[in-house]
Amino acid sequence: MKNRELFDAYAADIVGHELFLEGKKVFSHGSISIHDHSIAVAELSYSMIENSRGIDKRCVVRAALLHDFFLYEWHVPGLRYILHGWVHPAIAARKAREVFGISDREYSCIKTHMWPWTLFSFPRCREGWVISLADKIIAVKETLFRRGTRHELQDPGGFLREPERDR
Ligand SMILES: [Fe+2]
Ligand SMILES: [Fe+2]
Repeated sequence: MKNRELFDAYAADIVGHELFLEGKKVFSHGSISIHDHSIAVAELSYSMIENSRGIDKRCVVRAALLHDFFLYEWHVPGLRYILHGWVHPAIAARKAREVFGISDREYSCIKTHMWPWTLFSFPRCREGWVISLADKIIAVKETLFRRGTRHELQDPGGFLREPERDR
């Protein structure tokens, strides 16, 4: 990333918000938190387009940071776990709009980031395609290597449980 200052300027109010920091308590892939996953997706998304013209960079950073802003633990047996892939984009988009007053384009990027999982809900703009691609790249990396900082908030026996596959 060449222009860290611009990225930080777009991200500042989100990464400092207490509800975004709640993402440290929720697992993404392996032992990596939603908080760290979201920042990784935002950094990669921004790196992919920072030299491009005609793309809303602020939208890319903010929608990428909030693309998984669903704020619930999904590694629990049952319907929530099964349906998570389909339902969490719309939940994240709604919560991001409530908390951060995001733009319609940002809302659309978040709601469609899981395509092709969500068959007819596909990205409608370049920003959305970038975030969807970056999310998949980061997810594969996290699933394969499972490296990440384990936050003290994620201690087993606390609010969260370890994902099944990490036991
Ligand atoms: Fe997601
Ligand atoms: Fe994600």
